[in-house]
Amino acid sequence: MAVSYKDLGLVNTKELFKKAVEGGYAIPAYNFNNLEQLQAILQACVETKSPVILQVSSGARNYANATLLRNMARGATEYVKELGYDIPVVLHLDHGDTFELCKDCIDNGFSSVMIDGSHHSYEENIELTKKVVEYAHAHGVSVEGELGVLAGVEDDVVAEHSTYTQPEEVEDFVKRTGVDSLAISIGTSHGANKFTPAQCTRNSEGKLVPPELRFDILEEIEKRIPGFPIVLHGSSSVPQEAVETINKYGGALKDAIGIPEEWLRRAAKSAVCKINIDSDGRLAMTAAIRKVMIEKPGEFDPRKYLGPARDSLKALYMHKNINVLGSANQA
Ligand code: G3H
Ligand code: 13P
Ligand code: ZN
Repeated sequence: MAVSYKDLGLVNTKELFKKAVEGGYAIPAYNFNNLEQLQAILQACVETKSPVILQVSSGARNYANATLLRNMARGATEYVKELGYDIPVVLHLDHGDTFELCKDCIDNGFSSVMIDGSHHSYEENIELTKKVVEYAHAHGVSVEGELGVLAGVEDDVVAEHSTYTQPEEVEDFVKRTGVDSLAISIGTSHGANKFTPAQCTRNSEGKLVPPELRFDILEEIEKRIPGFPIVLHGSSSVPQEAVETINKYGGALKDAIGIPEEWLRRAAKSAVCKINIDSDGRLAMTAAIRKVMIEKPGEFDPRKYLGPARDSLKALYMHKNINVLGSANQA
């Protein structure tokens, strides 16, 4: 039997995006696969009074089980109330690649889905996205489409170089598909290695600075579809303290470079109203767990390393909401 997101206490993105675009901030879209990640996201967003988008990839559904994840989202809305401040919670499918997957999520309590047709031809992308929109809108579910391809890994699809979004396509795409938001490609990419050191320059403090995002493309897109909600994927900043901690405690991360936070703040002030962050959370968790493993080799209670990992995640998300996305106090 189908389960509506409304019965789980979730909301779609419509009102949230409208307020975010008008208010010059972005809603955090944090990925989760397990209990500790969900706890950290919810605690951080309640404490900063921020709306939140809980993102589930198809990999996450395979890893954690779709039924369990759905019921965790149901628990999330109850837990939020218990924490004392009722923030809006969206359950979103990240990088849906087929109509069937999107339909399954819509039928199982998701309030928002992404159909990522960016690896198809333009016309095929439109056809697939339109089909998802028709089904989703009949159920009050929001849809995110994508134009342009990000470099890096998107689930099983690997793109060597990014293909920037072509501004001249956006108006036609939005009109013909009926999507509620559009993910664009302006130089971000997935994962912890977004740029090579060779692509970067050094500032006066000796810090590596990546090539700037294509804000000109974002501006051109905004001109063509004023006020339309834009989404930025691949927006982890790859905090160097986390990378250093991982490597200090036996890790081997090389050339991990992310998107400077000032650029994300700049994007959030524009029509970018949803910013996707996954890798930073992975790094924060891994750093905390590695530290415990090395410093306390006798420890074997998972709560003793997952607990610190959760605390570290929560601190990271609070920082993002307050200092980067500007979503704090917007719930
Ligand atoms: O964009 C991809 C997200 O970071 C999800 O990654 O497919 O490994 O769960 P995943
Ligand atoms: P990061 O890998 O930069 O965290 O991007 C996550 C993302 O875009 C999820 O869809
Ligand atoms: Zn993504």
